[in-house]
Amino acid sequence: MYKTMLRFLVPVCSLLVMTITTNAQQHYIPPADSLVIKKLSQWQDWKFGLLMHWGTYSQWGVVESWSICPEDEGWTQRKPEHGTTYNAYKTNYENLQHSFNPTQFDPDKWAAAAQYAGMKYVVFTTKHHDGFCMFDTKQTDYKITSTATPFSSNPKSNVAKEIFKSFRAKGFATGAYFSKPDWHIDNYWWPYFPPKDRNVNYDPAKYPQRWQAFKDFTYNQIKELMNGDYGKMDILWLDGGWVRPKYTIDTAIEWQRTIPYNQDIDMAKIAGMARSYQPGLLVVDRSVGYEYENYVTPEQEIPNKLLPYPWETCMTMATSWSYVPHDHYKSTNELIHTLVKIVGTGGNLLLNIGPDANGEWDTAAYNRLKEIGDWMKINSEAIYNTRALPGWANNEVYFTMAKDSSAGYVLLFLKEGQQELAAGTIPIPDHFNGRFKHAQVLGTKTKLNLQKMTMKNNDDAQLLLPIKEHFSCSGLKHAIVFKLTR
Ligand code: GLC
Repeated sequence: MYKTMLRFLVPVCSLLVMTITTNAQQHYIPPADSLVIKKLSQWQDWKFGLLMHWGTYSQWGVVESWSICPEDEGWTQRKPEHGTTYNAYKTNYENLQHSFNPTQFDPDKWAAAAQYAGMKYVVFTTKHHDGFCMFDTKQTDYKITSTATPFSSNPKSNVAKEIFKSFRAKGFATGAYFSKPDWHIDNYWWPYFPPKDRNVNYDPAKYPQRWQAFKDFTYNQIKELMNGDYGKMDILWLDGGWVRPKYTIDTAIEWQRTIPYNQDIDMAKIAGMARSYQPGLLVVDRSVGYEYENYVTPEQEIPNKLLPYPWETCMTMATSWSYVPHDHYKSTNELIHTLVKIVGTGGNLLLNIGPDANGEWDTAAYNRLKEIGDWMKINSEAIYNTRALPGWANNEVYFTMAKDSSAGYVLLFLKEGQQELAAGTIPIPDHFNGRFKHAQVLGTKTKLNLQKMTMKNNDDAQLLLPIKEHFSCSGLKHAIVFKLTR
C-alpha cells in the first residue's frame, strides 16, 4: 500500500520542468479598479478559452507574420518559392492581400464547436505583427475589408466583428488580440531605412514626430476595436512585448536585452480610453508587467507551482499558431491532461486553432473539441469555478476545490484506453481534512469513503482515498474525477 501511495505522491520539487519566461513575476501590480477586479475574478472561473491566429499567411500555410522579420531564427525562415530575396519575399507576402478569400468562413460553426468543448471565451487576432487587419479599420487599407482584398465583397468580410458576434451569441466573453508592433505601417518600419529586426527601425527619441504618428495610429486602431462598434469586449490582449517603455525591460531575459529603444506607446492613455468604453476591461500587455498586465500569459508551457498572480497558458492545439497543412494535432488525452494540469495549478487554458485560407478548421480540431466536450459534460464541475490547492499537484493527480468550498475534486489521469486503476491510496491534501468524508466518481454510481491513517513519524492523520484491486474505470476516459463531499 505504501509503495503505491508513493507512486502518487511525487514531490513537487522534483517536477521543475519549466521556468516562467516572463518578467511580470517581479512586477505584477494587481488592479485597483473594482470593475477590473470583478472581471478578473469572473475570468478565473471560466478556465478554458479559444485563441485563433488567422491572417493572409494562412494561404501559404506558413508561420504568422514572422517570415517577414529580418531575424535569422528557426521560426522566421522563408521558403524560396515565395521570393528569393528579402524584398521580393516581402512584396509577395503583402500581395497575399489580393488573393485572400476565405469563402467558407462560418463563425457560428466555430462557436458551436467551441461551446460544446466547454470553452467560455474567445480571443481573436484582430491584427498580428504583419499589420494586416482582420477588422474594418479606418487607419489603413491593409485590411480584409479593403477593396484590394477579394473577401471584402462578402457580407461577413469584417471577420473580427462576425467572430465576436457569433461567439457572444453563445454566451462567450470576447477578447481582441492586437499586435502593438506593426511591420506594415511606415511609422514603425520607416522605408527610409531597411528593417533590422522585430523592433522599430528608427530611434523614436531622434524622430519624435514619427513615433507620435505611430502612437496615434495605434491608439486610433485600439479605439476602433473598443468603442462599441465591435460590441462588448472583455479582454484587450496586447502582443509584441518589445513595444514597451524602457524602464520595464528586464535585462535578465534574453530577448528583452536586444530591445534597442524606448518604445513607450502611453498605455495609461490607451487603457483609460479603452475602459471608458468597456468598463472593467482586462488589459493584458503581455510580458511588460506593471499595471497594464492584469494577468500573465506563459506561452506553450505550464507553471509547476501556484503563482502569486492570475495567469493563463496560451497553447497551440497542433504545433503552429497559424494554419499549416498536415499539422500534428495533440491527442484528446494530452489536451484534457493539459487542461487539468493548468486548472489544478491555478490557471486558465487559452487553446489555439489556426483557420485555413478558406476559412475552415482542420477536421482534427472539430474532433478534439467534440471529445473534450464529452469529457467536460461529465466532469466540468471539477474545472469551472474552482480554485487549486497549493503544493499538491503532481504529474498524475491534481486537486481542485469549489470556490464556495462545498466540494473537493481529485482528478486522476487515465492513459489512453486504461480500464482499471492500480490498487493503492491517494493522499488527500491537508486542506480537505475534516471537510470531506465521502467520494463519488463523476459519471458513475461508484461511491467510496475516505480513510484516515496515522503515518509513521507523524502525529496527524492523513486523509486517503482508497483504491481497491480491480477498480474499474471502463467507460471513463482521459481523467477520472472523484468528487469529495461532507
Ligand atoms: C508566439 C509567436 C506569436 C504568437 C504568440 C501567441 O510569441 O511568436 O506569433 O502570436 O506566440 O502567444
